[in-house]
Amino acid sequence: MNRRNITQRLLEALADTPAVFLRGARQTGKTTLVKTLCQDDRRSYITLDSATALAAALDDPTEFVRGLPKPAVISADPPAGQPPRGLV
Ligand SMILES: Nc1ncnc2c1ncn2[C@@H]1O[C@H](COP(=O)(O)OP(=O)(O)OP(=O)(O)O)[C@@H](O)[C@H]1O
Ligand SMILES: [Mg+2]
Repeated sequence: MNRRNITQRLLEALADTPAVFLRGARQTGKTTLVKTLCQDDRRSYITLDSATALAAALDDPTEFVRGLPKPAVISADPPAGQPPRGLV
Protein backbone atom coordinates (compact mmCIF):
# COMPACT_ATOMS: atom_id res chain seq x y z
CA MET A 1 0.00 0.00 0.00
CA ASN A 2 1.37 3.42 -0.94
CA ARG A 3 1.38 5.94 1.90
CA ARG A 4 -1.09 8.79 1.39
CA ASN A 5 0.26 12.27 2.12
CA ILE A 6 -3.27 13.52 2.68
CA THR A 7 -4.00 11.13 5.57
CA GLN A 8 -2.53 13.36 8.29
CA ARG A 9 -4.27 16.46 6.95
CA LEU A 10 -7.54 14.55 6.83
CA LEU A 11 -7.16 13.46 10.46
CA GLU A 12 -6.28 17.01 11.51
CA ALA A 13 -9.36 18.36 9.76
CA LEU A 14 -11.56 15.69 11.36
CA ALA A 15 -10.25 16.63 14.79
CA ASP A 16 -11.79 20.10 14.74
CA THR A 17 -14.33 20.15 11.92
CA PRO A 18 -17.78 18.51 12.06
CA ALA A 19 -17.87 17.58 8.37
CA VAL A 20 -14.93 17.03 6.04
CA PHE A 21 -15.43 16.57 2.30
CA LEU A 22 -12.89 14.43 0.45
CA ARG A 23 -13.00 14.82 -3.30
CA GLY A 24 -10.66 13.55 -5.98
CA ALA A 25 -10.24 12.13 -9.43
CA ARG A 26 -11.54 8.66 -10.17
CA GLN A 27 -9.53 5.70 -8.94
CA THR A 28 -7.14 7.73 -6.82
CA GLY A 29 -7.80 5.81 -3.59
CA LYS A 30 -10.53 7.86 -1.87
CA THR A 31 -12.66 4.90 -0.82
CA THR A 32 -9.67 2.88 0.33
CA LEU A 33 -8.44 5.80 2.43
CA VAL A 34 -11.73 6.55 4.15
CA LYS A 35 -12.35 2.87 4.84
CA THR A 36 -9.06 2.73 6.73
CA LEU A 37 -10.47 5.47 8.97
CA CYS A 38 -13.39 3.15 9.82
CA GLN A 39 -11.38 0.01 10.48
CA ASP A 40 -11.17 0.37 14.23
CA ASP A 41 -14.97 0.85 14.44
CA ARG A 42 -14.63 4.39 15.69
CA ARG A 43 -16.54 5.55 12.61
CA SER A 44 -19.35 3.91 10.73
CA TYR A 45 -19.11 3.60 6.95
CA ILE A 46 -22.26 4.47 5.01
CA THR A 47 -22.43 4.11 1.26
CA LEU A 48 -24.99 5.69 -1.01
CA ASP A 49 -24.38 2.98 -3.61
CA SER A 50 -27.67 1.34 -2.71
CA ALA A 51 -30.80 2.86 -4.26
CA THR A 52 -32.55 2.76 -0.88
CA ALA A 53 -29.85 4.73 0.93
CA LEU A 54 -29.56 7.22 -1.91
CA ALA A 55 -33.33 7.77 -2.03
CA ALA A 56 -33.42 8.38 1.73
CA ALA A 57 -30.53 10.84 1.54
CA LEU A 58 -32.08 12.77 -1.32
CA ASP A 59 -35.59 12.75 0.15
CA ASP A 60 -34.62 14.25 3.50
CA PRO A 61 -30.88 14.92 3.87
CA THR A 62 -31.21 16.40 7.37
CA GLU A 63 -33.08 13.40 8.76
CA PHE A 64 -30.77 11.02 6.92
CA VAL A 65 -27.71 12.52 8.59
CA ARG A 66 -29.49 12.83 11.95
CA GLY A 67 -30.22 9.10 11.93
CA LEU A 68 -26.67 7.96 11.23
CA PRO A 69 -24.53 6.36 13.92
CA LYS A 70 -21.87 9.03 14.29
CA PRO A 71 -19.11 9.71 13.62
CA ALA A 72 -19.74 8.44 10.11
CA VAL A 73 -18.11 8.37 6.72
CA ILE A 74 -20.63 8.82 3.90
CA SER A 75 -19.40 7.51 0.58
CA ALA A 76 -21.18 9.12 -2.36
CA ASP A 77 -19.12 7.55 -5.11
CA PRO A 78 -21.05 7.23 -8.34
CA PRO A 79 -21.03 3.69 -9.73
CA ALA A 80 -18.14 2.99 -12.11
CA GLY A 81 -18.71 4.59 -15.49
CA GLN A 82 -21.33 7.02 -14.24
CA PRO A 83 -20.86 10.76 -13.67
CA PRO A 84 -21.02 12.23 -10.15
CA ARG A 85 -24.56 12.79 -8.92
CA GLY A 86 -23.89 16.26 -7.59
CA LEU A 87 -24.04 15.16 -3.96
CA VAL A 88 -21.74 16.74 -1.41
N1 LIG B 1 -2.69 3.55 -0.82
C1 LIG B 1 -2.80 2.75 -1.88
N2 LIG B 1 -1.74 2.07 -2.37
C2 LIG B 1 -1.86 1.27 -3.44
N3 LIG B 1 -3.00 1.06 -4.12
C3 LIG B 1 -4.08 1.69 -3.68
C4 LIG B 1 -4.06 2.58 -2.55
N4 LIG B 1 -5.29 3.09 -2.37
C5 LIG B 1 -6.05 2.56 -3.32
N5 LIG B 1 -5.35 1.72 -4.10
C6 LIG B 1 -5.88 0.94 -5.24
O1 LIG B 1 -6.32 1.89 -6.21
C7 LIG B 1 -7.55 1.45 -6.80
C8 LIG B 1 -8.61 2.53 -6.59
O2 LIG B 1 -8.87 2.66 -5.22
P1 LIG B 1 -10.26 3.23 -4.68
O3 LIG B 1 -11.41 2.41 -5.15
O4 LIG B 1 -10.11 3.41 -3.21
O5 LIG B 1 -10.29 4.65 -5.41
P2 LIG B 1 -11.49 5.69 -5.52
O6 LIG B 1 -10.86 7.04 -5.64
O7 LIG B 1 -12.49 5.50 -4.42
O8 LIG B 1 -12.12 5.27 -6.92
P3 LIG B 1 -13.52 5.72 -7.55
O9 LIG B 1 -13.31 7.14 -8.01
O10 LIG B 1 -13.74 4.78 -8.68
O11 LIG B 1 -14.58 5.63 -6.47
C9 LIG B 1 -7.88 0.12 -6.15
O12 LIG B 1 -7.44 -0.91 -6.99
C10 LIG B 1 -7.10 0.14 -4.85
O13 LIG B 1 -6.79 -1.16 -4.41
MG1 LIG C 1 -14.51 5.19 -4.47
